[in-house]
Amino acid sequence: MDYFKMKGDFVKGSTSVKGALDLLKKDRFDIVITDLKLEESSGIELIKIVKSSKKNIEIIVVTGMSSIDIAIEAVRAGAFQYLMKPFKLEELELFIEKAYEKLGLEKEVSSLREKLIDKYNFNNIIAVSSVMESIFQKIKQIAPTDASVLITGESGVGKELIARAIHYNSLRRDGPLMPINCSALPDTLLESELFGFKKGAFTDASADKKGKFEMAEGGTLFLDEIGELSLFTQVKLLRFLETKEIMPIGGTHVIKVDTRLVFATNTDLKTAIEQKKFREDFYYRIKVVNLHIPPLRERREDIFPLANHFMIEYCRKYGKALMNFSSEAIEKLENYNWLGNVRELKNIIENIVIFNSSESITCSHLPENIKTGNAAPDITRSTLPHSVELKEIEKMAIIANLIEYKKNHTKVAKVLGISRPTLLKKIKLYEINEEEL
Ligand SMILES: Nc1ncnc2c1ncn2[C@@H]1O[C@H](COP(=O)(O)OP(=O)(O)O)[C@@H](O)[C@H]1O
Ligand SMILES: [Mg+2]
Repeated sequence: MDYFKMKGDFVKGSTSVKGALDLLKKDRFDIVITDLKLEESSGIELIKIVKSSKKNIEIIVVTGMSSIDIAIEAVRAGAFQYLMKPFKLEELELFIEKAYEKLGLEKEVSSLREKLIDKYNFNNIIAVSSVMESIFQKIKQIAPTDASVLITGESGVGKELIARAIHYNSLRRDGPLMPINCSALPDTLLESELFGFKKGAFTDASADKKGKFEMAEGGTLFLDEIGELSLFTQVKLLRFLETKEIMPIGGTHVIKVDTRLVFATNTDLKTAIEQKKFREDFYYRIKVVNLHIPPLRERREDIFPLANHFMIEYCRKYGKALMNFSSEAIEKLENYNWLGNVRELKNIIENIVIFNSSESITCSHLPENIKTGNAAPDITRSTLPHSVELKEIEKMAIIANLIEYKKNHTKVAKVLGISRPTLLKKIKLYEINEEEL
């Protein structure tokens, strides 16, 4: 408080809801910053009263990590933003600036803010659910080590973002980060991209060319979609992991390189091993440190915080005033099954921000399939194995819908077009353990 007074802002404080309301009656305020634990009653009460007064006031909530659910409730009640304790003063300042922006009040843009936006962009991993929170803790622990890391998960869950976070939170952060998509190039090209070649190694090699390994010297090489690697390249990578040396194509001696490897894949490497497309020794070598990012539908607590985060990002990008979400819209977003994961959510929010000119995001702004909740069951062509017994497909469909409809048998039976007793029979037949879903 003293800090803001020092900056010349008009600031008053109170420890109770009643005290705050008295202050609000006496003077005109633009912004209310409140904890959720107050004397007598909760901060949520205060938010509701302030919002119902129709005054042009924005509310920022500061709260402890343990009360994230309540923080989200606060945003639903009309709070503008929440901030987790402990926070830095600059973070609060940034939110205050954003609140001013929303109020349409001019406030000079400080260079501090520019700096923060950058900082925010890189530490910008939203991790509210307990699984993501623990992944986040793991990232913090493994980033500063030089261990190679395998990141697994469906497309769009945030694998690349996490790979970047690992690099930028490591001691190599000032070194280069070299991403390479292993599925984008035919095998021979990929090999020369990775390891480089010597002049004369083949007809077109008119000069030496450095590979990504060398270019990533002192930094990190991010190998994406490694499920597509040829067995031969896997051997070469395995050799590098053992020796820290590479041999350029057409070279006569090995080169030592100081590069950290981060791998990612959305394919199931275990199955690839069974199909002899992936080497078991390579797999066991790289899976020592494995971060598995679950699909968004298995961590629904992240949906709203992510949506809110993207809303802010795009409003800033497109120069729009910040918007809030209606509680129905939040519910629809939370219930959708997001086969495209965070990427799909992000694209949808971008679209809404571009086309929406009102201050709230409501159900009417959502795409039809999200609005109707008619999410396709979690079986798509890409996840469905090619040769599989019909009863296996039936079992998968039942499991997918039990998850989708939160084990509501009546609904699942209806969606699958069978009677409820038939559904129950099949659950038993296929030995589906609903408690595990
Ligand atoms: N937890 C998260 N917090 C913020 N943004 C995220 C998060 N997870 C994913 N994203 C964003 O979603 C998009 C897709 O993520 P990406 O890392 O490309 O996924 P993947 O590599 O798994 O396909 C990116 O724009 C990324 O920044
Ligand atoms: Mg990716």
